[in-house]
Formats: sequence, structure tokens, C-alpha cells
Amino acid sequence: QRKNSQIQYDEIQKVTSSVLGKTELRPKLGIICGSGLGGLANEVKDSQVIPYAEIDGFPKCTVPGHAGNLVLGYLSGVPTVCMQGRLHFYEGHPAWLVTMPIRMMKLIGVETLIVTNASGGLNQDYNSGDIMVIKDHINLTGLTGQHPLVGPNDEKFGPRFPAMTTPYDPELRQLAQETAKELGFSGFMREGVYVKVSGPSYETPSESRLLRSIGADTVGMSTAPEVVVARHAGMKVLGFSMVTNVVILEQDSDKTPPTHQEVMDTANARAKDLQLLVKTIVGKLAST
Ligand code: 6GU
Repeated sequence: QRKNSQIQYDEIQKVTSSVLGKTELRPKLGIICGSGLGGLANEVKDSQVIPYAEIDGFPKCTVPGHAGNLVLGYLSGVPTVCMQGRLHFYEGHPAWLVTMPIRMMKLIGVETLIVTNASGGLNQDYNSGDIMVIKDHINLTGLTGQHPLVGPNDEKFGPRFPAMTTPYDPELRQLAQETAKELGFSGFMREGVYVKVSGPSYETPSESRLLRSIGADTVGMSTAPEVVVARHAGMKVLGFSMVTNVVILEQDSDKTPPTHQEVMDTANARAKDLQLLVKTIVGKLAST
């Protein structure tokens, strides 16, 4: 593991060249598939699969349920690069390395990023299987020091002190809700705030109450750092958080504790709906 902070421009350039040397495609859209949501990459037409292991300088992805592939092709006609499997801080990657693929996407020419994740529902009105359009996030680990932009700032990517007032694009959020309504998904669509924790343990009931009390509707172990780096680099972001389990807020509850298997099973059960939603949104973006 490197001791220093941010990965430098020329190193990301190297990773980017390695990818661009393997494909003719020049993607404009980037997608990150969350736990159990890798099927989204199968919607990509004329696809070319590049395992992370074959990309020079790309970190390894170690989580069950996260394949480690870049999938390149066309989604609803839009040239797209899909991360089938993301990197997490809890795997031992430092925050700057977790978000390195976002900068690679930026250098490839990606302008819009769609992020997905599996999460716990802190909001007790939420149900397992709900899809939450992310309105805002709390990068809890970032606030407390594990921030992906810590270290020397490279102005080629963005400013030293980037604003985060609009992390998730309001127009894209609206388009997502309209499209969900047209597809008949209103019954399980939500909009709310995602809080990112480090993991890998799930939260104690007291921790969950803490997170709920600071205004979060869902909790997970990803997404916010990638979004911060994407916004730093001027990309537009749309985010979906799939509620795979409702979080237990009380000690001595008779509800069953979360397991990675449950998270994956629930995500898989609703994955087709999210895939259709994303594909339809991208089709609309392509035609406007
Ligand atoms: Cl309950 N907590 C966290 N941190 N991540 C999750 C989750 C819970 N459920 C799915 N992912």
C-alpha cells in the first residue's frame, strides 16, 4: 500500500491508456454497479469485457457479488463504460485508490456517472426492495478524515476546495422519478439521503439510531467518495440506492440481522427493475 495520498495524473493516464488500448469505444457515460446489481452491465450491447486484472495499475476487487470487470459497449445507444464490481475502503484500499477509476473515466471522456448501491434502510417507512434516488449524501468517513481528495490537489482534475452543494444532479433526479412513474415503479421509489460508513461490520442499533438522527435514510459502505471525486472533476451524477434490508434500531429486536446473502438476494430480486429504469433514463438522455 502506498503511504502517500493522491494518485498522480500520469499514473491515471497510464491506467486510461491501458484501457483505451484495448477498445475502440469512447464512452460518454459511466456506470458503477453495486452489490448484486452487476446485471446492469449485461444490458450493455456489443459489449467488451476487460477484467480489472488485465488493466495496468488497476486495483483488485475482492468482494463476493462484485465481479471485477470493466464492461464497455452501448446502453440505449450511448457509449458506456460500466464498472461491474467496485472498490471499497474496507477491502484495504485507501480512499484515493477506491476512487481512482472515476478519474480514469474522466480521462476517457465520461461526462455523466450513474452510481448504484445496496443499502440498509434507516428510514423505517422504507421497505426491503425499495429503490431510493439519492438526493444528497453524508460522506461520514470523508468528514472524519478518510476523504478521497486529501493530499496534493491536481488542478487538471478540479479545484482544491470543490463545492458539494449539488452532488446529485437535480434534473437527472427528476428525470429518474418521471421515468419510474411511467414504468409503474412509484410504489417502491423513494428519494432521500445516503450515509457512507466504512464497514465491513453492519451497524449496532445505537449506531443506526445515530445515523438516522443525522438525517440519513439509507446506510452503506460506498458511493459517496466516488461521487465526491466525480463532482470534483465536473461530472454529472445520478445515484440509486437499493434498500436490501430495513435496519434494526432497537436492541433486543426480534428482527433478523442483515447478512451479505440477504443483501445480494434482495438486490438480485429487484435488479431487473433497476436495470430497466436506468436503461430507459439513458435512452431519454440520448434523445434529448
Ligand atoms: Cl444495514 N449497513 C451497511 N453499512 N451497508 C449495508 C447495509 C447495512 N445493508 C446493505 N448494505
